[in-house]
Amino acid sequence: MDDRFNTIAGWVLGAGIVGLGLAIVSSHYFEADKHERPETMGYAVEGVAEGEGAAKEVPLATLLAAADPAKGEAIFAKCKSCHTINEGGANGIGPNLHGIVGEAVGQGAGGFAFSDALKSVGGEWTFDKLNAWLTSPKAFAPGTKMTFAGLSKPEDRANIIVYLNSQGSNVPLPPPPAADEAPAADGAAAPAAGEATGAPAEGAEAPAT
Ligand code: HEC
Repeated sequence: MDDRFNTIAGWVLGAGIVGLGLAIVSSHYFEADKHERPETMGYAVEGVAEGEGAAKEVPLATLLAAADPAKGEAIFAKCKSCHTINEGGANGIGPNLHGIVGEAVGQGAGGFAFSDALKSVGGEWTFDKLNAWLTSPKAFAPGTKMTFAGLSKPEDRANIIVYLNSQGSNVPLPPPPAADEAPAADGAAAPAAGEATGAPAEGAEAPAT
């Protein structure tokens, strides 16, 4: 009787020890006791920009090259409550905008009473200045009278800028930077550079374009 009891007790104890051991081992293996999130979630997919990369700005010159004055004219509807753009057009709440690109900032010929905030900016309306102004008038010239929030989409701004430019200014657009091409001519290092400098690298097989 005693013998049998010991045998049974032995098996039960043994099974318990094995079970406990497995629990400890498996919890280590699966790190079930670890509650912190892993440093990087999931896995990175190659070729997909992340973080700052995705928010990288397209250069204004590139946007202007692709811009459409007809779309800009449509967006100008937002400005019409305050601005005219025809030659000799009347000032409204805002000044007439004919020929604005290249004109001095805050100095229209039509006798508009500009705010000191805008007058003190100085210089001329370049594409870059207009882009900054139309992003946020308030940020560009704190204290300005133009109570317009701004156009948040870079494409909208580019479209409207080429439209403004087409209305009495016609300033040449800046050349768009070469998209993703070899970083600047460094002699024979970049294949395209040989062509540009007129000095073919090797073999002089460069196509004469
Ligand atoms: C609520 C009225 C209002 C709206 C809407 C508005 N503007 Fe203006 N805008 C003004 C006023 C007022 C000024 C003069 C600002 C100052 O003197 O501070 C001005 C000034 C400007 C100037 C500078 C003119 C110069 O001769 O220096 C430009 C360029 C301009 N606006 C473009 C636009 C464009 C483009 C839009 C539409 C996307 C627009 N504005 C929408 C009221 C407005």
